[in-house]
Amino acid sequence: MNFSDFSRRRFLATLGGLGAGLLVRPVWPGATGRKPISKPIPASGERLPVIGMGTSRTFDVTPGSDQGRQLLPVMQAFFDHGGGVVDTSPMYGHAEAVLGELLRAARHERQHLFAATKVWTWGEQEGIEQMQRSMQRVGVERFDLIQIHNLRDWEVQLETLKAWKAGGKVRYIGITTSHGRFHDELEVILDTQPFDFVQLSYNIGNRDVEQRLLPLAQERGMAVLINRPFMRGELFSLVRGKGLPAWAAEFDCSSWAQFFLKFAVSHPAVTCAIPATSKLHHMIDNMGAGVGRLPDSEMRARMLRHMQSV
Ligand SMILES: NC(=O)c1ccc[n+]([C@@H]2O[C@H](COP(=O)([O-])OP(=O)(O)OC[C@H]3O[C@@H](n4cnc5c(N)ncnc54)[C@H](OP(=O)(O)O)[C@@H]3O)[C@@H](O)[C@H]2O)c1
Repeated sequence: MNFSDFSRRRFLATLGGLGAGLLVRPVWPGATGRKPISKPIPASGERLPVIGMGTSRTFDVTPGSDQGRQLLPVMQAFFDHGGGVVDTSPMYGHAEAVLGELLRAARHERQHLFAATKVWTWGEQEGIEQMQRSMQRVGVERFDLIQIHNLRDWEVQLETLKAWKAGGKVRYIGITTSHGRFHDELEVILDTQPFDFVQLSYNIGNRDVEQRLLPLAQERGMAVLINRPFMRGELFSLVRGKGLPAWAAEFDCSSWAQFFLKFAVSHPAVTCAIPATSKLHHMIDNMGAGVGRLPDSEMRARMLRHMQSV
C-alpha cells in the first residue's frame, strides 16, 4: 500500500506502541521544555534553532516502506526538541518524497518547520519544473529556502530564484557546496551575488572554510548552514573508545555528538548545523547540542587541542 494513502488513524494504528507516545503536539520551545539556542538570519532577523536536520542517505528509503515509517519518531523527536530547519534535495533519491509523507503524518508537529530544499539541474525550465516537483513531494506551498546545489548552473538558477523570491514563491535563497574544489568559485559568487544563505561543510576535522568563506559570509550578511557536521560520521571513528573530557560539562555537553555539533555552531558566522540521522537515540542526542551553553573562543581552542591529541 502506498504510504500517502494511509489515513492518519490507520497510520497511528500501524505505529502502535512505537509512535503513540510521540504523537503529542509539542509545546514550543519543544516538548522537553528546554529553550533551544537560536541565531538570527542576518537578512531578516528571524531566528532559527541552531540544530537542524539533514536528509541525505538517511531519508533515501522506499516511499511507503516500513523503513520510511521508522523515520517518523526520528523526525517527531526533532520537532519535539524544538527543531526547525530540515534540509533536503532532489539529488537525495527518495528523500523529498519520504520527508513529505512523514510531514503529512505529523501535521501537528510540523508547525515550526523551516523547509529547505535545493535546485540541482541544468536549464531554466528544468530548474522551475524541479522546484515545482519538490514542492509537491515535500507538500509545502512554498519553501522557506531554496538553495542552488553544488553551484550547478548557478547563473541560470539564480535568476529564477530571484524572480521567485520577488514574487513571494520562496522566502530565502541560497547556494551550497561540500567540495573544497568549488571554494574559489564560491568565494567570487558570495562576494557579488545577493544570497540570503550559504551552505558549507564545516566540522572539527575539516575547517577549510574558516579561512575565507565563513568570514566572507559574515561580512556579506548571509546565514550559514553547516552540512557534514560529523564529517559523514567519520568523526565518531576518531574518538571510538575515548571518553569525553570532563570539562565538556562546562558547556553543557554530554556526548561526542554534542561536542562536534557545539563546536560547529559556536563559530560566530554559523547559523545552524544540519546533522543527518536515521536513529531516534541519535536524534535525541544531537538535539541535546542545541540547548545550554555554547563554547566560547577559548574553549573552542581547547576542543581543537584535545582533538589533535586523541
Ligand atoms: N552540497 C550539499 O548541499 C550537501 C552536501 C552534503 C550534505 N548536505 C546536507 O547536510 C546533511 C548532513 O550531512 P551528511 O548527512 O553528509 O553527514 P553528517 O551529518 O556529518 O553525518 C551523518 C552520519 O552521522 C551518523 N550520526 C548522526 N548522529 C549521530 C550520533 N549522535 N552518534 C553517532 N552517529 C551519528 C549518521 O548515522 P546514523 O543514521 O546511524 O545516526 C550518519 O551516518 C545531509 O543530510 C544533507 O542534508 C548537503
